[in-house]
Amino acid sequence: MDRFLQKIHFSVNGQDTELMIHPEESLLDVLRDRLGLKGTKHGCGAGECGACTVLVDGLAVDSCIYPAGRLEGARVETIEGQEKEGRISSLQEAFIREGAVQCGFCTPGMIMSAKGLLDESPAPTREEIRRAISGNLCRCTGYKKIIRAVETAAGKGGDPRD
Ligand code: FES
Ligand code: FES
Repeated sequence: MDRFLQKIHFSVNGQDTELMIHPEESLLDVLRDRLGLKGTKHGCGAGECGACTVLVDGLAVDSCIYPAGRLEGARVETIEGQEKEGRISSLQEAFIREGAVQCGFCTPGMIMSAKGLLDESPAPTREEIRRAISGNLCRCTGYKKIIRAVETAAGKGGDPRD
């Protein structure tokens, strides 16, 4: 075996996956270039904008600086996994309903950060929501509608459908 390659096993949106990776590859490279999951966005590439946020074992991480070599046995969730049986999640519905999606570039990462929070804490305070999305930059909307969308999805201000 090429000594610069490493075999890893992990799951992506519930699907078992086995890949040969280069140690210097990032999780973002693996998702976008190797698995074709382009919903996770490449923004700064330096861990600063949050556009590339996915969940690894339930925790929000910047996939652009997350080494693929650490993925052995990990459970990765991306924006693509939020749709089930042709239906988007109640969190995604809340973003649409509250007008929290404009250019949409930050949205997948924002939704994954919010999902990580809601999975851990189904009824977060506004401060907890702010903290959870503090690493996700949005240059268009300001954050009011985004925070409101997360509150709606948490059942505080709307009509979540599941
Ligand atoms: Fe990963 Fe900006 S692209 S933090
Ligand atoms: Fe977030 Fe535009 S909607 S950067």
